[in-house]
Amino acid sequence: MKKEEILRAIENKYSELGVSTEAMLEGLLWSKPITYWDYIQTDALLGLQIPRTTEPDEMVFIMYHQVNELLFKMILWEIDQVAKSIEIAAEKFSKHLTRISRYFDMLCSSFLVMAEGMDVEQYLKFRNTLTPASGFQSAQYRKVEFASTELINLIDSRFRDQFNENLSFQKAYDHLYWQAAGKNYSTGQKTTLLKLFEKKYMGEFIDFMKDYRGCNLSEKFKQLPKETQKDKGLINAMRHYDYTVNVKWVMAHYNAAGKYLGGDETALEATGGSNWRKYLHPKYQRRIFFPYLWSQEELKSWGTF
Ligand code: HEM
Repeated sequence: MKKEEILRAIENKYSELGVSTEAMLEGLLWSKPITYWDYIQTDALLGLQIPRTTEPDEMVFIMYHQVNELLFKMILWEIDQVAKSIEIAAEKFSKHLTRISRYFDMLCSSFLVMAEGMDVEQYLKFRNTLTPASGFQSAQYRKVEFASTELINLIDSRFRDQFNENLSFQKAYDHLYWQAAGKNYSTGQKTTLLKLFEKKYMGEFIDFMKDYRGCNLSEKFKQLPKETQKDKGLINAMRHYDYTVNVKWVMAHYNAAGKYLGGDETALEATGGSNWRKYLHPKYQRRIFFPYLWSQEELKSWGTF
């Protein structure tokens, strides 16, 4: 754009806003030059790592969780661009799905930072200061699920066939698969892990569920033209995302938990208090975002292939 054109465009923009162009231009004279650290907010970002112990590997644990939360935010950002498009073109859908999968691929390949990157002895010391907290309480992780699929696919698989797709939000919430990790079945009580999580987020989750009914990734896929839904490339991309989130990441996480908390008989109690050996395994969770894209055989052996 030429200088005169730019000035005219600025003039138009600010006169529409009812703001004096002269004042805006003069403001530029006094404004500070932008720097990397102001723009990226490095000081704020690097001031957020506060360990509770003297064990150096606690820093690895905190920072890697923070990296995960940033990637969850990037994933939600992309999902939103699909969900909030009035009419989504196949190309745009694929583009965002590819970006989302790329971020989840990063989460899977980098999970070695947890599995290999901390000394077990150190972990076993600093974990005690985290009780009763757990990654289970990541609200963004739950939002990725709500924004990816219909609620029925997030219901505890043991009760799923008692519900249909139109179940109420509160009823769906009460039967989400992850409720199982937060209930003490001997007393019938919810654990502190779950109580605190609900106190902070239940209302927000119900609003979020409402927001994404009709426009989550699965429903947006079903709104694409029938021919596009048969596109092999797109189907493979959807299956890749489903498998990466619901089997690959889950197994990477499960195996890391096994390394620190131990095997079947000797497993330590999780900081969040769940029966994690059973709860976390995908073959029991059976969380599948796009079940209609998997064969009966694949569904049957979910979590073991
Ligand atoms: C050494 C590292 C880790 C261990 C030992 C571990 C262990 C566990 C355990 C035992 C649970 C079951 C809930 C409970 O606490 O009772 C859990 C849940 C969970 N953790 Fe981790 N975790 C680790 C790292 C991470 C990281 C880096 C993240 C990323 C944010 C994460 C996210 C989650 C999520 C989202 C759940 C709930 C999963 C679900 O409901 O299916 N965890 N974790």
